[in-house]
Parts: sequence; C-alpha cells; structure tokens
Amino acid sequence: MSEINKTHAQWSNRFAYILAATGAAVGLGNIWKFPYIMGENGGGAFVLVYLFCIAIVGIPVMIAEVYLGKSGRLSPMRAVAEVAKRYSASKAWKFAGAMGVVAGYLILSFYAVIAGWACAYILETAGGQFEQASAEQIKLSFNQLISSPASLIGWTSFMLIITAAVVAKGLQDGLEKCVRYMMPAMFVLLLVIAGYSASYGDFSQAVSFMFAPDFSKLTIHSVLEALGHSFFTLSLASGVMIMYGAYLPDNTSIVKTSIWIAIADTMVALLAGLAIFPIVFGNGLEPSAGPGLIFETLPLAFGQMPGGQFIGTVFFVMLVFAAFTSAIALIESSVAWLIEKKGFSRVAAAAFSGAGLWLLSLLTIFSFTGADWATVNVFSVDTNFFGVLDTLTSNVLLPLGGLLIAIFVGWVVKQEDLADELKLSSATFSTCVVLLKYVTPLIVFIVFLYLTGIFKF
Ligand code: PHE
Repeated sequence: MSEINKTHAQWSNRFAYILAATGAAVGLGNIWKFPYIMGENGGGAFVLVYLFCIAIVGIPVMIAEVYLGKSGRLSPMRAVAEVAKRYSASKAWKFAGAMGVVAGYLILSFYAVIAGWACAYILETAGGQFEQASAEQIKLSFNQLISSPASLIGWTSFMLIITAAVVAKGLQDGLEKCVRYMMPAMFVLLLVIAGYSASYGDFSQAVSFMFAPDFSKLTIHSVLEALGHSFFTLSLASGVMIMYGAYLPDNTSIVKTSIWIAIADTMVALLAGLAIFPIVFGNGLEPSAGPGLIFETLPLAFGQMPGGQFIGTVFFVMLVFAAFTSAIALIESSVAWLIEKKGFSRVAAAAFSGAGLWLLSLLTIFSFTGADWATVNVFSVDTNFFGVLDTLTSNVLLPLGGLLIAIFVGWVVKQEDLADELKLSSATFSTCVVLLKYVTPLIVFIVFLYLTGIFKF
C-alpha cells in the first residue's frame, strides 16, 4: 500500500490560527444551544459551573490536542500514531485520533442540516414573513420547513457545497480567508444585536437571570450538562483542535492561544445570552423553551419590535457565519486524511468528503420529516437517526475521545517534551499536568458514565 506523506501548509501567522480556531469553537453550540440549556437549567448557577468546567477540563484538553497536532503535524489519527511511535506506545492509540475524526464527520452531517435552517430563516425574516405573525403562524412555518424534504435537502446541500468549496481552496486561500472576514463580522453583528436587545428588551432581568446564581436551581444533571457542553462548545475530541494544531506556526504558544480561544468562545456564548434573553424576557417568552428557543420564539419578537425585520435578518446571518466557520473545521480532518493517506488532490478530497456528508445528512433530514425508515428503536427507546447521531457523538464519542487524549498526553508523552513545548513556569506546568493526568480523566470518566446511563443520579 502506498503511503503518501505530505508536509502540510501552516497558518500564515498566530492571529490567523486564533481566528480559525475561535471560528471552529464558536458556532451553533454557543448561540443556539448554550442559551436554551442555560434557560432550562435556571441561569446563573449553571453559568458558573460551566465557566469552571471550561477552565478545569476544557482548557487542559485543548492544550493536549493542539500539542498532539503540532508535534505530529498530520491529520488526527496519523498525528497520534506518529507521537505514539515516538514513545514506543501501542499502535492502538491511533484509534483515539480516528474516533475524533469520525465524531467530527458525524457531527457535521447533522450540523449542516441545522445550519441550513438558519439559512432558510435569513430569507424568511428578510422577506417579512414574521412581521406581526402570531406564535401559531411562526410554529407552523417552522414545522413546514423541517417537514419538507425538498427545502431541507436544498439548504443542507447549499451549506455542504460552500463548505467543501472553501476547504478545496486550501488552508490559506480557503479556510483562512473565510474566517478572516466572517469571524470579525460575526462578532460585530452579535454586538449590534446585544446592543439592540439591551435597549429594546428587558436587559436587567436578563442580566440577573444570567449572573445572579441561585444554587437552589442547580441539580446534579445541570452540573453534568454544563461539563458536557463545555466539551462540545470548544470543539474538543472531534479531530478539530488536533488538525488545526498540525498547521500551527512553530513559534506560537499553545497555552496562550488555547486560553485566548476558550475566553473568546465563552464571551460569545455569554454575549449570545445577553442578546437573546432581553428579547425573551421583554416579550414575556419562556427562557426554558428548549431547542426551538431561537427558531420559534425569537421570530415572534422580531416580528413585533421596531426594526425587527432588519435585526432578525442580521441575527440569522450571524448564526450562519458562526455555524459555517465550525463546518469548515469539521470537514478539514477528513479532507487532510484523504490527501495524506489516499493521495487525493485537495479538490477531489473535498468533493468526496462533501458527497459522503451529503448522503449521511439524509439520515437527519428524514428524521425531521418523520419518514418511517428514519425511526429507530435503540435500547427499547424510540428515536430517529438524528437522535442516534446526536447522542452517539455528544454523549459517547466526545467524552471518550477527550478522556483518551488527556490520558495519552498526561501519561504517554514524556513530560520533558511537553514542558519544552509549553514553556511554562514549573508551578503552572505541574498544575497543567495534574489536571491532564488525574483531574480531567476523572471528571470526564464520571460524566461519561452518567451520560451513557450507567450511572443514574
Ligand atoms: N464548537 C461548535 C459549536 O459550539 C460545535 C463543534 C463541535 C464544532 C465539535 C466542531 C467540533 O457550535
């Protein structure tokens, strides 16, 4: 079998990497998911636990992943294999990397569908469809969208085609150029919406909901949900951070950039909360409305507030930008693998990977349209393929992948090598190692057991 080893391109500079990795981290998880799970879990106390988890679990695992990428300089599975070989560790470690790539691929197959809804909402909002609409009308139009195979296939194809096209153009001309414009634009749009919400919505109630912790509302489920989400929101264990680390310029500090990315991701999540909750409270909507929060309730407010048609359109444009910079990150590892291992050209790899994703996305699309064949029974629970993919990735593959990476970098990689790369004071380095070796695995292990249902609280 022929093995083609390619030296990959690198990000043009540290800032390009930070933008790209922040773009990968910031996505539907921050703007769509974080506000609604915060809403469901009572607000402030949940936010505190989430911040704690980002610091204790998220940042160390991110450092470990970027380190692996940078020292292996290959796509995730092969980077891990390369590092394992260096320490004469078992070849089987490569499956930790492979699992991430598979998880990322599966995530994108449904992520593209949800991002497609956001695309559809740009047109609907801009076209004035929600102007003075009632809650029933809005619900109806949401249901119409998600039950129409033609619309869903159309929007998903659109998302996947541009994702593959950008990635086909390569690292510096494709991914980097795209995030250079989209990320700053996304931040600005989010600030505009937060400013608008603060003046037209109930800002003070939103602030006290998000920042005045009421620990009586905190359950063990909320704690564990915060932990799981801190993982998802930083794009950990999905091949993404190892892959982006493989393109890291030599003189870039892994620790500083990881901390910065985690802070930026958290700021966007909090800002998204500050943009959404004033509108929710100001219009008497339910903060715990669940996954439909932004698609079913926000248009109601947009349809009634001054300038709502414009601000609503801006909101969904921003959501698509955020989702898109995560989508290109999610497809990149499979593309890099096809180039390295199978000798594909970048264009062919992007087209091939995109076509596979398109086929896989049909599983999610037909889950929403309610096709009989998309309904499955797992462990005697009726669900659909979307439910299976969502649970399998977030609840099984991500935690397990993160656990393995922390153990690999904490226990297999030689500490002197890690210290050489991280260049930290000895106290900070020891803290980092303790977090990776013991704290992170233990915490992730507990969450993993909980999430897979072995542990029931
Ligand atoms: N972090 C992304 C978000 O918050 C989701 C994601 C998960 C992206 C895993 C890549 C890998 O939307």
